Amino acid sequence: MPLAPWRSSLARALHLNRSLIYARYVQLATVRTDGRPANRTVVFRGFLDSTNQLKFITDDRSEKIEQLTAQPWAEVCWYFPKSREQFRLLGQLRAVGANGPEPLLKARQTQWQDLSDAARLQFAWAAPKQPRAEASAFHPPPPDPIQPLPNFCLLLLDPVQVDHLELRGDPQNRNLYIYNPEQQNWQIEAINP
Ligand SMILES: Cc1cc2nc3c(=O)[nH]c(=O)nc-3n(C[C@H](O)[C@H](O)[C@H](O)COP(=O)(O)O)c2cc1C
Repeated sequence: MPLAPWRSSLARALHLNRSLIYARYVQLATVRTDGRPANRTVVFRGFLDSTNQLKFITDDRSEKIEQLTAQPWAEVCWYFPKSREQFRLLGQLRAVGANGPEPLLKARQTQWQDLSDAARLQFAWAAPKQPRAEASAFHPPPPDPIQPLPNFCLLLLDPVQVDHLELRGDPQNRNLYIYNPEQQNWQIEAINP
């Protein structure tokens, strides 16, 4: 799969903002089963090898999992403070848990191995959104650094539309990238901000 044309703009933004740790935090919106929106911050973990899919990680006990199972459409909103630009990436989100799919289990395992001990430990904490557990529930024994805990999920967002707004410039610049599945290519249009 060739690199999508929006990848170079995103790579440039990541480079220009590399000194800001929080420039890798994005807002990920999903749809709740009652049709209401849900939104939260997650950490961008790079791209899945030789694809245009963004990687994130999460706990399969978190609400976003049941949301994306019922409705896989999701959108990331990502603001880069240094270069003053926003990317909105719309696509389907899928979770790679302990049960696969098989070809992605290796990527899930590698992601687990790349985490810090502290990040891995969070997956052994008491279940999210339950009434506050006692302190000992947050001091579990460290999990195996090689084999992921069963609740560890790799999340993959496969964008089909990317809206890139650059505030710098007068007037501002806005480009829309739309994937055409029939032609298997991206169409790019300069649009008004
Ligand atoms: C800076 C920051 C980074 C976060 N990174 C992640 C992350 O990478 N994965 C994740 O599942 N939750 C992350 N969270 C927690 C989520 O924002 C959210 O509270 C949690 O995933 C539960 O969301 P849900 O109930 O909508 O599934 C992060 C929160 C903050 C403030």
